[in-house]
Amino acid sequence: MLRQLDPLAYVSEGFYQRERTSVWSTQWLLAAVTNELEKPGEYVARSIAGWPVLIRRNADHQLTAFLNVCPHRGGPIAWPGEGRIGNLVCRYHGWAFDSDGRLLSARDFGDQVCADEHSLTPLSVDEWGPLVFVNLNPSPHALLESLGGLVALISRLDFERFVHVRRISREIDCNWKTYVDNYLEAYHVPLIHPLLGAAIDIESYTIDIPEPSFCVHSARTAEGAPNSGLWIFRYPNIALNVYPGAMNVERVEPIDHARTRIVYDYFTNGDTDDDISAMLHMSNVTLDEDQAMVEVVQANLDSGAYRPGPLSPRHEMALHWFQNRIRTDVEETT
Ligand code: FES
Ligand SMILES: [Fe+2]
Repeated sequence: MLRQLDPLAYVSEGFYQRERTSVWSTQWLLAAVTNELEKPGEYVARSIAGWPVLIRRNADHQLTAFLNVCPHRGGPIAWPGEGRIGNLVCRYHGWAFDSDGRLLSARDFGDQVCADEHSLTPLSVDEWGPLVFVNLNPSPHALLESLGGLVALISRLDFERFVHVRRISREIDCNWKTYVDNYLEAYHVPLIHPLLGAAIDIESYTIDIPEPSFCVHSARTAEGAPNSGLWIFRYPNIALNVYPGAMNVERVEPIDHARTRIVYDYFTNGDTDDDISAMLHMSNVTLDEDQAMVEVVQANLDSGAYRPGPLSPRHEMALHWFQNRIRTDVEETT
């Protein structure tokens, strides 16, 4: 039988803190979409697994990213959210940094502060099609290399020229892995997703794990179904849900060990008509149904009443893969 991750991994604040270093500080993470960062000075400042991340488009149109934490006393360089800033100046006491994060001036300190010792902490940042990724590791493998075969798979859909059309975001009361586990299996579809279940041939549902960083779920679709029967999850925080001429890109962002933000960014290729209501309806109904279930599952995990059962070799292989990656990453690096 396939062994599950210890349930404590889903409820423990301590385990979450270990994940923040071993998973969320080492991987390329989906952090934004390019149309949030089109013009010079545009920025997003958001917390991903508790890490305050600032991404900004410079005057030379390059993206830069830093921890949004001033080396003076921890103030923010940009207020959390999105917007536009001319220069990198701390909002607390006004220390100023150049576009590479090097200290330019420490207000009213004269020459008592050594600029080289008080730079912003740089992060790695890169773009793929309409998506922006950050990596807290300052010298990771290149993004495209790291995405591996996922690039060819998605490029077939002409994804690089997709246009962003809508964003929906919500908070879910569960550990982020409870949400991902649920995403990674369709065993529950006949029980809780009547609309999705009617759109696909569940008997044709297959799971493939072509590379260690992503898995692919596919199923034949019913005549006239709004979706394409293709779902891809890339470790640790991206899900790509494919629709005819469109895609819903999910960003999974832990808020803390017990809450998760799910951000849906909808894209279309411009060839389909502008009516995306069928895609929105299907994804929202499905998310409502998943949210209701995972919040109850999380409450049961929190209760301490659950002892791990078996994973289905037929339906739950992807959970086995995902949980093994967590186990390996956390054990190897902490
Ligand atoms: S905390 Fe940034 S200038 Fe003081
Ligand atoms: Fe579901």
